[in-house]
This record gives sequence, structure tokens and C-alpha cells, in this order.
Amino acid sequence: MKFDTPAGTNPIDRETVIGKPHARIEGPLKTTGTAVYSYENHQAAPNAAYGYIVGSAIARGRISAMDVSEAKAAPGVLAIITADNAGPIKTQGFYVAKPLAGPEIEHYHQAVALVVAETFEQARAAAARIRIDYVRTRGAFDLAATREGAKPHRRQPDVHTGDFEKAFASAPVKVDATFTTPDQSHMMSEPHATIARWDGDQLTIWSAQQIVGWARRDLGNKLSIPQDKIRVVATYIGGGFGGKGSICSDAILAALGARAVGRAVKVALPRPLMPNNTTHRPATIQRVRLAAGRDGRLVAVGHETLSGNLPGGGPEIAAAQTQLLYAGANRLNLTRLSTLDLPEGNAMRAPGEASGLMALEVAMDELAEKLGMDPVELRILNDTQTVPDDPGRGSPTDPQSASPNQGPQDVPGRPFSIRQFVTCLRTGAERFGWKERSAAPGARRDGRWLSGVGMASAIRGAPIIPAGGRVTLARDGGVTVESNMTDMGTGSYTIIGQTVAEMMGLPLDRVVVKLADSNYPEAFGGGGQGGAASATAGAYAACVKLREAVAAKLGFNSADAEFVDGEVRAGNRRVRLAEAAKDGPITAEDKIEYGDLSRRFEQQTFGAHFCEVAVDAYTGEIRIRRMLAVCAAGRILNPVTARSQVIGGMVGGAGAALMEELAVDKRFGFFVNHDLAGYEVPVHADIPHQDVIFLDEVDPTMSPLKAKGVGELGISGVAPAIANAVYNATGVRVRDYPITLDKHL
Ligand code: MOS
Repeated sequence: MKFDTPAGTNPIDRETVIGKPHARIEGPLKTTGTAVYSYENHQAAPNAAYGYIVGSAIARGRISAMDVSEAKAAPGVLAIITADNAGPIKTQGFYVAKPLAGPEIEHYHQAVALVVAETFEQARAAAARIRIDYVRTRGAFDLAATREGAKPHRRQPDVHTGDFEKAFASAPVKVDATFTTPDQSHMMSEPHATIARWDGDQLTIWSAQQIVGWARRDLGNKLSIPQDKIRVVATYIGGGFGGKGSICSDAILAALGARAVGRAVKVALPRPLMPNNTTHRPATIQRVRLAAGRDGRLVAVGHETLSGNLPGGGPEIAAAQTQLLYAGANRLNLTRLSTLDLPEGNAMRAPGEASGLMALEVAMDELAEKLGMDPVELRILNDTQTVPDDPGRGSPTDPQSASPNQGPQDVPGRPFSIRQFVTCLRTGAERFGWKERSAAPGARRDGRWLSGVGMASAIRGAPIIPAGGRVTLARDGGVTVESNMTDMGTGSYTIIGQTVAEMMGLPLDRVVVKLADSNYPEAFGGGGQGGAASATAGAYAACVKLREAVAAKLGFNSADAEFVDGEVRAGNRRVRLAEAAKDGPITAEDKIEYGDLSRRFEQQTFGAHFCEVAVDAYTGEIRIRRMLAVCAAGRILNPVTARSQVIGGMVGGAGAALMEELAVDKRFGFFVNHDLAGYEVPVHADIPHQDVIFLDEVDPTMSPLKAKGVGELGISGVAPAIANAVYNATGVRVRDYPITLDKHL
């Protein structure tokens, strides 16, 4: 179906199932350990052999000699895949680093061999017997040192509006501050893992993938296999955070290993290989310059960001949101990219906004202090209802796009589809008790604990991507829905089920949801907080067709027919839905196609984050006391799963503010703390209290569901709210993340 005008009233608006709290329908399978994840699919591959990946011991250079003879002779070994025998692997795809290196090495822990053996232990033991000589060459590993060679990138053109330099120079109140954010690792619980099986020339992978369609596309392109010869299944995913956006070495090497040994092969990345072998969120150096009149109105808004990547990789789009968030006539927005020989940087947890707001929103706090203004009031004063200028971002379907959230944006001055940003700020201030705050930093002390509060704005794109669905009404009146949308623990199964239940007038337990198989209709996947809105729209389109088919079968005029309580009704006539399928199941399939609404309207989600911290006056230890998020993100399809998304995002924000950092060895070019012992993430004791408020909102420009994604809004703005709270507690401004105690003592 076409969706090219804002949605009118439709069956979703009844909100009998949609918008209601439902626990995740696959939850019991997960909590009882019976959900079958990719690596555990013994039924699909009962006789699978095990693959073990060997990662490069150097960051840059080449393999001068590799001796696999001892490994080959080791017990149980079936095959060893290296660049010498793998055949050609093309580089095109969402990830640019080669999934199998040799002889050239691009980054540390890049896969150089796969050992396939009867058991995991045999594969691992044999892998240790491969002898490799390397010739190391110098590499660029220090972002700050690459500044001079940094270049613009087509994905984020420079923006010059008005005369920034002049306005900044002549303004009475200004902030000029530089911030650094570190490299970060996704550290999802389930590792990257794949089982590959060939049936003739047909390849099936069961693989931890956020976006099944991209996985199939990239696997096909890299190995030169036609798409229709590949099936990708990702039924359950143990988290992704952007790190499973497309195929990594595990999938490519499992496929090659399975072809070599003539049976299924399973490959999981060991935890210590994950940060350097796969992608990560790249570090940034950001300069923010803000200037205002004495009344607090911004007159100059400048944001410059630098990040690095392997050749062919993209920048962290950390400055783009600054073009959308606040008014101001004179603007400068520059994104720079330099070449680094660290592992590939790519999408992680609200790529762009999460890092960019860590700079902008602290600079806003600094500006408020200089103005003697309340930080909430400063933000309200500088609200804008139209896009201040054109950020000109790339396309969401650009395979090279670092973030799937970026929609086509080439209509300057356009309005936001809906922007309840000020309501988020006011609601948050009210509910948090913001007026109790002490504007003077370091003024609140209880025994050894200094306490402080902080806040920050949140903005994150609301992409909508064409999606389809297939629905089947069974003889018993139940409906099955199929979509290649994935669920990485986000609630996709549940909200797609709710969509179908609402459309067909059924309770949720009469809907069977089948997801994440490339044999099902294309529906994007989990990424860029685009999945929820897109996939439910695809399911909606299929249900509209099914309703028409049912109405026709039962002799109803489909425009009058209501689907309620398992019945089809019009006037005085009521027929059970199951009647329509008494001669056999009815299947309907459709997809939703968008017009230009996302060009005419700037579609974003908005929020405000508030946080209270305590800082030990003697040790500098920082404890979060409470957090509040207020979110405006279209219709909330399910308040339980949406809240889980947001509190998960807030935990990620706490990690970014206070703990998470991949330590770079700048001599040898690798991430030193490459496991969960050395890479710190928040645990329960770090997160004492979280509140989430959703504003009542629908956005009819998005889809018939009038919904948006919300998960990545949950992280965007959290870290600067915490940073501002730490400043309010201590009076020490740390602009170098994470804010560890050594930096403010
Ligand atoms: Mo997300 S980091 O765009 O999966």
C-alpha cells in the first residue's frame, strides 16, 4: 500500500491491544533457556563441525609466512581456511574491513585463519599451532595526531549558515570547549556467532544478525553468491547495540568452512576477539562553540567533530543533531574523518547523537552558567519548530552509511512533523524536582557525599524504511504473521503481534509471530531505532489486505467491516472471523511504500534526561542516585517494551559517562581491554533508580501506526546529563569521557 499522506483514523487508533502493556511474548522461552539462538541450533545442523578463528597479532603489515602443517595434523582437524585457499572475497558491504585477511593485514585481531575440527576444543588447540610470521609496518593509531590530514566526508557535508565566525567573535556571552569521547565496544551478551550449512549450492546461515536483508546482501556480494541462493535466519539475538549490523568474520568463515568440509560448521567469536575483530564506536574529538546575547538567545552555533576509520569507513556523525536542536542564525557544522589503522568504526548505540550530545549538551550547561540562566530555561528559549538549516545527511539505504537512521533530508526550512521538546523539558523539570537544585556547584554536601543534579536534551532520528509483511488466517481463526524483522531483545515479536491483533480484532495470544528469516517478507531490521515503526507498518499493510480478503469472502463491504472480538461486523451482521477460513487458510501479503512525507517533515524523537549523582568528596567516586527520562516518540506501541528500551539506553548512557572506554595501545594499535574483565560496563548496583515518562503523542506522518522508534532516544543525552550533574556536585568540569575519579580529584 502507498503511504503518501498523513495517516487518518484507522483500526490501530482503537488501542485495544496496541499501546497496552504486554510482557514480551517470547520472554518465557528466554528466561527458561529454551529459546534457540543461532549457535545452538543443533536441530538445523546436528552434525556441525566447529570453527575457531585466529586473529592477527599485528595491526598493520603483512604475513610473510604461515605454516599450518602442524595444525592440520592435529587431532580432529578437518580443514584450515586462509586467504590462500578461501577464494576471492569482495569488500563491498556495510562493513569495510575484510572478514579474512592475508597477506595484507588491516587491523589487529583481523581474522587470518579458520580452523575447522570435530570439536571446539580440537579446533582451538589446533589454532594455537598455526605459525605465522608477520612484517609489521607503521600505522596511525592516535586520533589526535591525525588532525591535520583529516578530510570532509560525503555522508555529512559542511554547513555554513550566516556568518558564524563574525557572530561568535562579537557575541557578549560564549563558550568554546573541546570534548573527547573514547572508542567504545558494544559488548552484547551473545557473541557474534553463525552456523552455516550448504545444501548443494544453497547456503543457509543461522547467524546473530540485526538486519537479515543486509546480512544476505553482504554475504552474497562478498562471496559472489546470488541472493536467492542464500537464506539467513536470526530467530533470537542476544543483543547487538549496532555491532551485528551485518555479517562479520564468523559468518563468512563459517560459510567457507562449511563448503570446504562438506558439512555444517559453527563459528562463534571468543569474547577476547570481539572488540578488535569486529566493529566499535569510534572515538571523537569535538569542538563546540556557542554564543548568545545576554538574553540567552543563541546567535552562533558551531560544532566540529573529528573521528577516524579504516580506509573506506565512515565518520562518527556526531555534529549533525546540532543542526536540528536549537535555533540560531549563524551556524557552522563540520565533520572530519581521518585514516586510522585501528579496527573498523561503525554503528553503536545511537551512532552520532549519543557522542555528539556528550559535547553539545555540556557546552549548553556551561553557557547557561555563564549567562546565569537555568539550563532548562536556556533550552526552552532556544527551541525551534522548523529546521534551522539543512544538515544534508545521507540515505538510510546507503550500504556505506554508518548509521541507518539518516533519512533523505534535502528540503531546507521544513517543519518538524511533531516536536514536543519543550513539553519534555517542562515535564521532566516538574517531575524531577528540578527547582530544588542549587545553581552554584559544589554547594550540596551530606557527610562525605557531594550531591548534584544535571540535565540534558535528547534528540534522535526517527527513520521509516519500506517494509512488508505476510499474514495468514488459519481455520481456527488464529493469525500468523511473517516478517524478516529481527528481535535482539527489543520487543519486535510483541509489537508486531499487537499490530496484527489490533488489525484483525483478536487477542494477542491468537497471533503467532514469525520473524527474522530471509524467506519472510523484507522489513528492514533492528537498527537506527528504525525497526519498530517500519516493521509494524509492513504488518499493517498485510493486515489491510487480509481484512479485504476476509470481508470479500464473508460478503461484507470491506469499507464498513469492523474486526472486533474475533468477529467481523457491519450493521447488525456478525460473523466469526474463522468462518472466512473454513475452506482453507487465507494468506495476504503486502508492503508499505512511502511518498515524500519524510522529506517534507523532519521526523525526530525528542526527550529530556535528568540525573542526580553523589560524589565522594575524599575518593572522587561517583554514584548515580536517580535518573529520569521524558520521551516524545510518537505512539508508544507497548509501554512495557518501550520502557525497557529506554532504561536500557539509559544504562548505556551511564556507561558512556562514567566507565566505558577501549584503551588504545598507540604503539601497536589495538584495544588493550578486549574482554569484560577489562572493559567496564554498568551493573545493577550502578543504576539505583530509573523513571521513564512517555508523552502522549502520535505522529501521522510516520506510518499508519503513527509510531516512532524509542530505544536510541533512551541513550542520547544521558551521558551529558550525568556529566552536568557531576559538575553541579563538584564544580570540576571534565570534558574528557569517561568521567573517572582520577579526572576530577
Ligand atoms: Mo543501531 S547502533 O543503529 O543498531
